[in-house]
Amino acid sequence: MRTPLIAGNWKMNGSLALVERFGEAFSQPEVRLPDGIDIALMVPAPYLEAARRAFSAGPLAFGGQTLHHERHGAFTGEISGAMLAEFGATYVLVGHSERRTLFGEDDAAVCARVKAALTERLTPVLCLGETLEERDAGRTEAVVLGQLEAVFDALSPEERDRLVIAYEPVWAIGTGRTATPEQAQAVHAALRARLADYDAGLAEGMRLLYGGSMKAANAAELLAQPDIDGGLIGGASLQVDDFLVICQSA
Ligand code: G3P
Repeated sequence: MRTPLIAGNWKMNGSLALVERFGEAFSQPEVRLPDGIDIALMVPAPYLEAARRAFSAGPLAFGGQTLHHERHGAFTGEISGAMLAEFGATYVLVGHSERRTLFGEDDAAVCARVKAALTERLTPVLCLGETLEERDAGRTEAVVLGQLEAVFDALSPEERDRLVIAYEPVWAIGTGRTATPEQAQAVHAALRARLADYDAGLAEGMRLLYGGSMKAANAAELLAQPDIDGGLIGGASLQVDDFLVICQSA
């Protein structure tokens, strides 16, 4: 049985006040959450210390949205896995489509960053997804499995077990056009089948998150799919009440 994970990706949004609001809301004794659920917010770097303080008493973990593959050095503006870990972060997104398209992260760069996250004992959330053009060309599985293999082929069995995967169809991110539960389940099933080629136990234990316009209104039907083990939430993770409903839907 895989523990659900609901993760929010604030991107370049949020505020200290919002960190405090989330910490306050999720530590209320009357808040009901599914047993054992993991919940994390991937906040912009300036909010890491506030998250460490505000989330210390409740169910929220927190993480970063990217990391450099080096531990330190002359990389102006970058953040390292060691810095994330120093602040108490436990997760880090790697290879988000916005990092791949806007900041030129190719599969090799993504793989190096996954390894850097593992070195710092962070849990990498490896983001995969196809563009609308690739889907319309019938290349969804080829693209997504290629992104998976570019990383998993380079990891040891022990390292593979420590990842989380997030399938985020690029055409659903920030568009309000959510993949149907059937579309998402089909890709998740293909990912799990490919993982089974590495190791049956790896496939069974790997948490596969869906991301791409998951909202309070559609979360339950997506999370009810057999191979969807959680969500990676953008816009809706900036609304405390909506994010709570999504967590309660897991
Ligand atoms: O990483 C999650 C994000 O890409 C999804 O964004 O706004 O479509 O939920 P959104």
